[in-house]
Amino acid sequence: MSAVKVGVTGAAGQIGYSILPMICSGQMLGADTKIDLALLDIPQCEDALRGVAMEISDSAFPLLNSLKYGSDPREILRDLDIIIFLGGFPRKAGMERKELLQKNMNIFKEQGTALNEVGKPTTLCLVVANPANTNCLVLAHHAPNIPRKNFTAMTRLDHNRASFQIANRVGALTVDVKNVAIWGNHSSTQYPDVNHGTVRGGAIRPAVNDDEWLNGDFISCVQKRGAAIIAARKLSSAMSAAKAAVDHVRDWYLGTKDGEWVSMAVLSDGSYGIDAGLCYSFPCTCVNREWHIVQGLDINEFSRDKMNLTKQELTEERDEAFSA
Ligand code: NAI
Repeated sequence: MSAVKVGVTGAAGQIGYSILPMICSGQMLGADTKIDLALLDIPQCEDALRGVAMEISDSAFPLLNSLKYGSDPREILRDLDIIIFLGGFPRKAGMERKELLQKNMNIFKEQGTALNEVGKPTTLCLVVANPANTNCLVLAHHAPNIPRKNFTAMTRLDHNRASFQIANRVGALTVDVKNVAIWGNHSSTQYPDVNHGTVRGGAIRPAVNDDEWLNGDFISCVQKRGAAIIAARKLSSAMSAAKAAVDHVRDWYLGTKDGEWVSMAVLSDGSYGIDAGLCYSFPCTCVNREWHIVQGLDINEFSRDKMNLTKQELTEERDEAFSA
């Protein structure tokens, strides 16, 4: 089997340091798939990136077929099969949200334009860098040669966090928890929904038997987990974000398990009343490297309100991003 070409932007950063060994050891694409790795970062981080590349070489990963790195998106993003976009501008003290949004829009405009020239119609793109949903929308907008279905943003970390909270509450393992769903934005307005999920094969609600917790502290815990990690670690989540990105790409590329879905932010087709074109997280299944939004789930009034709230935030973000 020929090697799969995997690109990682922002590869000299925190998540990069966690995700690269996972990719090179087969956690993402399986133990039989060789990897051609391409790493991108900005010129100011050239030394750090070179150091990371030296460490990857020194790890002697049997699956690593080739390695290149640099700061020119046109060279590094050329002909790739999968790209994980970690590179972005971090929020600095005193910075307005709007300013942060604008700085990242510029990065994703530049990378989308490059990708449009050097990408392939089959290149699959996962955006992790925040604001992930809107960055993804901007990237897709500037790379019209690549099908819009090839662009997704990451809410898998939120999905994994929700699964852990339920497992922990009932004394189960996270593998026993299936089909929680994250709706909307990767932000504190996201809606973690357990109404269709199961734990050890039975519905989550009766198993937990505490609707007050499920409708209150559970939701806010998942929504604010990223902030809680920053408060504790003085750094944002990196190991768990890397694991989530690997989970996202593996399930997209190799397919979801029968009867199970995962949460992915994708360009809406209008399902569940979410405006077509908005990058919104839905429960999705994947087959043959294509995602499909799970259809026909009953949405009660409580859920609808929360889904609308996060839709509103994403609509505002999109309008701000494209207004400049
Ligand atoms: P980091 O600041 O440690 O690393 C980011 C890297 O991106 C740096 O090496 C930086 O030089 C690079 N970079 C900046 N502009 C670039 C450009 N134009 N091209 C290529 N590289 C560029 O950040 P960390 O912790 O690795 O996080 C990466 C991103 O992921 C952040 O935006 C963070 O907010 C986001 N994130 C998203 C999560 C999600 O669930 N969607 C979870 C955790 C983090």
